[in-house]
Amino acid sequence: MTVAQERRLVTPIPGPVSQELAARKQAAVAAGVGATMPVFAAEAAGGIVVDVDGNHLIDLGSGIAVTTVGNSAPRVVDAVREQVGRFTHTCFMVTPYEGYVAVAERLNELTPGEHEKTTALFNSGAEAVENAVKIARVHTGKDAVVVFDHAYHGRTNLTMAMTAKNMPYKQGFGPFAGEVYRAPLSYPYRDGQLAADGAAAARRAIDVIEKQVGADNLAAVVIEPIQGEGGFIEPATGFLPALVEWCRANGVVFVADEVQTGFARTGDLFACDHEGVVPDLIVTAKGIAGGLPLSAVTGRREIMNATHVGGLGGTYGGNPLACAAALGAIETIVADDLVGRAGKIQQLMLGRLRDLQSRDDRIGDVRGRGAMIAIELVRPGTTEPDADLARSVAAHAHARGVIVLTCGTYGNVIRFLPPLTISDELLDEGLDEVEAGLAAVAR
Ligand SMILES: Cc1ncc(COP(=O)(O)O)c(C=O)c1O
Repeated sequence: MTVAQERRLVTPIPGPVSQELAARKQAAVAAGVGATMPVFAAEAAGGIVVDVDGNHLIDLGSGIAVTTVGNSAPRVVDAVREQVGRFTHTCFMVTPYEGYVAVAERLNELTPGEHEKTTALFNSGAEAVENAVKIARVHTGKDAVVVFDHAYHGRTNLTMAMTAKNMPYKQGFGPFAGEVYRAPLSYPYRDGQLAADGAAAARRAIDVIEKQVGADNLAAVVIEPIQGEGGFIEPATGFLPALVEWCRANGVVFVADEVQTGFARTGDLFACDHEGVVPDLIVTAKGIAGGLPLSAVTGRREIMNATHVGGLGGTYGGNPLACAAALGAIETIVADDLVGRAGKIQQLMLGRLRDLQSRDDRIGDVRGRGAMIAIELVRPGTTEPDADLARSVAAHAHARGVIVLTCGTYGNVIRFLPPLTISDELLDEGLDEVEAGLAAVAR
């Protein structure tokens, strides 16, 4: 690894070169494309991003849960180098190639459930979610789709309709696709009496679905097993299994959107594995290919194959470079036991953050699994969301060279998505700055 795995600040954040680039960005790039941090990247490896001024930043975001195997992971880089020297594109729908088939085989093998599966590859998470809905509609001959409060599924027209939060994802961008319905989620921190009762929270959701949609109209229930952008909300135990059971009994396709949770991120290979949930279709992206754009829908052969020939595809879906990267990333996850490493990161992070919570009543909740951990910030001693505090703590960390992200419907959640290859020392140092950021904000 050529990038030293240490935090090193040589200029204020942002430094002069980043400031120059920010001015060019403002002039040349559409204003709607924002940036979490005001620095421009020059290099990155493992758990460190080096900016154009030479600052070494600790990466607790993984480019939003993408570089799970570490940035520029050696097996990913080698596989892409080898592939780019052979060919860059033919279009799998014109002259297919082995890499695509090999990725499909690995996904069919590794995703939850022992049933026969097939896979189709796409470019982005949103595109794969859209295709899962297309497949479920063809298979069932029904139209409606149920999603949940706080859900995030993407920014295309259909996935905007499926995403819950208006600002910034939907504001002014309608009208949205029809036949999308929203059911209540299990959100233990805010669920009062239902907090620990996943089965009861599922009954509440199923009641809404039955009354407001009707199983006879419903093609698919689409859910993130742990919500990402919505605030790292982990439903109470029993919620997901009860939903799956209802879907099975009612001829509804159960789709797990594991775009953010997949590929060892949560301390299982897939978040569904935690409770032994077997989805009919699983949507993956982000961590699948170590940073190259790739996404997939994998599922029961009879559902996946319901679509007519030519009904699925796209010019770039399953691009050969992205497939080579995916094979390198998957090999890294398996060979280096990154599932086990995610479990260790969970222990370290939950331990420290729970200790901090015991001393700071502005941390309302500490939650998550594996290397997908969050703190929900509230006004002292209440459950009232405090988005300003989350922004201030994140800004403090950024200024000290630690990349952290916020999320949540109320904007009051700080989330941690470190690469699984990051060292304990860097993780600890990053959390030190979160702790210092909380201390720096007057109560
Ligand atoms: C759960 C989930 N689904 C879908 C998406 C959309 O993925 P993409 O941004 O690759 O379109 C995201 C992105 O954050 C996500 O977290």
